[in-house]
Amino acid sequence: MSKQCYGIFFGILLTIAGVFGQDTSAQPVRDLYVAVGSEVNIPCFGGEELEWRVNRSALTTGPVLHLRNVSLEDTGVYTCHGLNGDISDQISLHPGYAPSPPVVHCWAPSYPQKAFCSWVQKPDTLLPTQYLKTYPCISVMGSDSLCEMSKLQLFTLQPHILNITAINALGTATGFMQFILEDIVKPDPPVNLTITASSAKRATVEWTPPPSWPDTVHFPLKYTVRYYWDQQQTDHTLGPYELPRITITGLRSGRTYKIQVSAEDLLDQGSRSEWSDPVSLAVPSS
Ligand SMILES: *[C@@H]1O[C@H](CO)[C@@H](O)[C@H](O)[C@H]1NC(C)=O
Ligand SMILES: *[C@@H]1O[C@H](CO)[C@@H](O)[C@H](O)[C@H]1NC(C)=O
Ligand SMILES: *[C@@H]1O[C@H](CO)[C@@H](O)[C@H](O)[C@H]1NC(C)=O
Ligand SMILES: *[C@@H]1O[C@H](CO)[C@@H](O)[C@H](O)[C@H]1NC(C)=O
Repeated sequence: MSKQCYGIFFGILLTIAGVFGQDTSAQPVRDLYVAVGSEVNIPCFGGEELEWRVNRSALTTGPVLHLRNVSLEDTGVYTCHGLNGDISDQISLHPGYAPSPPVVHCWAPSYPQKAFCSWVQKPDTLLPTQYLKTYPCISVMGSDSLCEMSKLQLFTLQPHILNITAINALGTATGFMQFILEDIVKPDPPVNLTITASSAKRATVEWTPPPSWPDTVHFPLKYTVRYYWDQQQTDHTLGPYELPRITITGLRSGRTYKIQVSAEDLLDQGSRSEWSDPVSLAVPSS
């Protein structure tokens, strides 16, 4: 992973043409992105400037505004004013951070058709940041931190590698994940868990395979069921089962049970799904 910082020195002036402040003045606002902790000198583009203001409050005088150690509190709109009080220049100061290498995570809830990758950036750069991807990975619903890969080769010997490069005004950094598709299989949890009490002590639990799993015929799933009841910390797990239905016996009257189910590839590829949302079964007191 490499991390390069481009010019955190005396600030990067990016003039955004056509963007005007709320002020009545026709001076365009210049966006200035600076690293927290850096030293910045902001010249005023204009006539004989006398006064600098921040958020309309007087700050200092002189042709160049000097900030020794920029902090997040320095965020604001800086204006410099000529003798007659007119605005000569307006700068919107955005303190933030250069990107750190994105932490990339990929998983395959729809094996063998597709995989998803998401990434996080810590700390948040607080600045507009763009992400470049090396692999054909299509953004999901316009998200800039989640993408989808399809038609990946199965059972490859060489891992697939997805690089994510974060770029903002202060620098660039690359993070990546390499994976064999079969190793990152992780179904979504089963859905529509229903419980039918068949007697005071027995209940039938049924569920539907995760809708995102495309083909349970050629790529069957197996299921693990767990249940627990009030005042009991330890849970009981049952399974794995290949059919989406089991009968639980030995239930006790007066208890409220919580039941969940999780799915896993029948051939143990990858990992088990998260648990489904718990469903309650109250066994009446006899
Ligand atoms: C992906 O990132 C790694 C590690 O930073 C780098 O060595 C490699 O050249 C990158 N690959 C591409 C295609 O950019
Ligand atoms: C800049 O400010 C931070 C936070 O107040 C402080 O921890 C740091 O030592 C300062 N750095 C310099 C070079 O003064
Ligand atoms: C300027 O105003 C913004 C938005 O209200 C505020 O977040 C910021 O702290 C202010 N900056 C200064 C230096 O007062
Ligand atoms: C789950 O149950 C709801 C309501 O009964 C139904 O509309 C939906 O199609 C079911 N989902 C699946 C995947 O069977």
